[in-house]
Amino acid sequence: MSLRLRALFILTACLLGCDAKVRLASYYGDHMVLQKSPARAVLWGYGPEGAHVTVSLSGPIQLRTSPVTVTKGIWRVTLDPVEPGGPYMLMVSSESNTITLKDVLFGDIWVCGGQSNMQFQTSRVFNASSELALAPKYPHVRPFQAALNVSETELPDLVQVQIPWSVPTAGVMSEFSAVCWLFGRYLYDVLKYPIGLVESCWGGTPVEAWSSSRALQQCKLDRMIGGPRNDSILWNSMIHPLLNMTIYGAIWYQGEANTDYHPNQYNCSFPAMIDDWRMAFHQGSGGQTDPDFPFGFVQLSTCTKNSTSEKYPDIRWHQTADTGFVPNSRMKKTFMAVALDLPDESSPYGTIHPRDKQDVAYRLTLGARAVAYNQKHVPFLGPFPKEILRLPNSIIVHYDQAISVTSSKDIYEICCSKTACGLNSLWVPAPILSWVSASVRISTASCKGSSIAGLRYAWKDWPCDFKACPVYSANKVLPAPPFISN
Ligand SMILES: *[C@@H]1O[C@H](CO)[C@@H](O)[C@H](O)[C@H]1NC(C)=O
Ligand SMILES: *[C@@H]1O[C@H](CO)[C@@H](O)[C@H](O)[C@H]1NC(C)=O
Ligand SMILES: *[C@@H]1O[C@H](CO)[C@@H](O)[C@H](O)[C@H]1NC(C)=O
Ligand SMILES: *[C@@H]1O[C@H](CO)[C@@H](O)[C@H](O)[C@H]1NC(C)=O
Ligand SMILES: *[C@@H]1O[C@H](CO)[C@@H](O)[C@H](O)[C@H]1NC(C)=O
Ligand SMILES: *[C@@H]1O[C@H](CO)[C@@H](O)[C@H](O)[C@H]1NC(C)=O
Repeated sequence: MSLRLRALFILTACLLGCDAKVRLASYYGDHMVLQKSPARAVLWGYGPEGAHVTVSLSGPIQLRTSPVTVTKGIWRVTLDPVEPGGPYMLMVSSESNTITLKDVLFGDIWVCGGQSNMQFQTSRVFNASSELALAPKYPHVRPFQAALNVSETELPDLVQVQIPWSVPTAGVMSEFSAVCWLFGRYLYDVLKYPIGLVESCWGGTPVEAWSSSRALQQCKLDRMIGGPRNDSILWNSMIHPLLNMTIYGAIWYQGEANTDYHPNQYNCSFPAMIDDWRMAFHQGSGGQTDPDFPFGFVQLSTCTKNSTSEKYPDIRWHQTADTGFVPNSRMKKTFMAVALDLPDESSPYGTIHPRDKQDVAYRLTLGARAVAYNQKHVPFLGPFPKEILRLPNSIIVHYDQAISVTSSKDIYEICCSKTACGLNSLWVPAPILSWVSASVRISTASCKGSSIAGLRYAWKDWPCDFKACPVYSANKVLPAPPFISN
């Protein structure tokens, strides 16, 4: 064989195969959940240049895509919409090989992000063994977990998978995020169709690590390195790779790390990250993921008992873009689980990691039902003031709903000042005097006749004992979120 011929031979052989087989991206596999109708699931993977790839489904319905050509080593298809359910066999075939994935379901995909309280494993929650014993009863709530990896550049695919798509067992779920799994389970109880849970979170990480440089620029946060984690480093490796799958929504439990890192910008960086994820998932999925997909989050729980630091209250407030509640005009299609009444003084994992994740997930589910699934008449917002009235010796707080109150001398505080309250204002306790169905009367005696410029509620790291904050919804399910008013 002449040299030229030999070179041609090798080239042709490589085109058809070398080691070249069609493969799927890391987050597709047996037992996976794909996004159901009306959205269309996106599948992609790798293959030899020029190969033709066809994806077909067989199960409750049969479906076959037209062939797509591998270009620059990548192929991608968008399935027709598929109703919830399964199981399906999914075949990816090309000239070189065929891959068969079994036990594939269609349902809603939720991404679970954040730091250690999202990562907090189910084996560590209260009643862990009875929760884990329920795993086999929820075969259609399926976990997947991205491994903890970093990257200085945006990656097309995950570096590594920690838990591949699995049918839940006690063993698998013990390692999986408790908030993510409980949320999926409670949702399944209501929706009765498959739920796919994609855990991608990492303890100790600030919001900047999960934000693209686009999002950081929105808040004039120039790319920083050497913080707790480099900016964008987890966005690059643990979120960007996921953009190409179709998802339904995301839940998020993070903020503790930002009590010490750019805390004053969190009212910008958090909403900006949500906007950016929405835009990027929409684009990455070729328009299949909603451009305003629902985003739920947990308002910070507690960390240090008796602390007088305002770091936690500040971040809680910033989590709502400084309005106290969500959704609001800055944060549309969002929902929040208030958790400041769920402290855990004897948590073996540190007080920053309260073990009651059931109530956290349950409250998130209420928000998801109302905001993400438009279920009417699902109460999900705790009482919030709609009017604050100044009387000669007291203040009346009118809430937006009927309340259940226990008395307190110091859960409300007032700021005695003629001008607006600032950083160094003196806040003093304002005892509850009385209450009726939807309003509370608070004493202003501590200001001793001077002007009152502000009122705040539960503005403490650790404002109350377990489920014992002074103001709840009438049925005692939803705590009043903290507020500050000037
Ligand atoms: C990715 O994360 C896994 C699990 O944390 C770790 O074992 C592995 O070494 C990481 N890989 C890289 C390339 O950093
Ligand atoms: C953060 O960035 C610096 C500078 O580029 C780099 O040396 C360091 O390895 C990065 N940290 C991580 C965790 O990748
Ligand atoms: C965010 O909060 C800081 C104080 O912590 C405040 O100065 C700033 O005006 C707020 N920004 C926005 C966009 O609300
Ligand atoms: C995935 O989405 C990213 C971001 O939109 C895009 O750059 C990339 O080309 C997509 N990859 C595939 C395989 O579609
Ligand atoms: C908090 O304060 C109470 C009352 O002063 C005290 O009994 C308790 O030991 C303190 N707890 C901590 C963790 O500091
Ligand atoms: C743990 O189980 C007990 C007994 O069933 C129950 O009263 C308690 O509420 C459970 N705790 C949580 C956090 O679910």
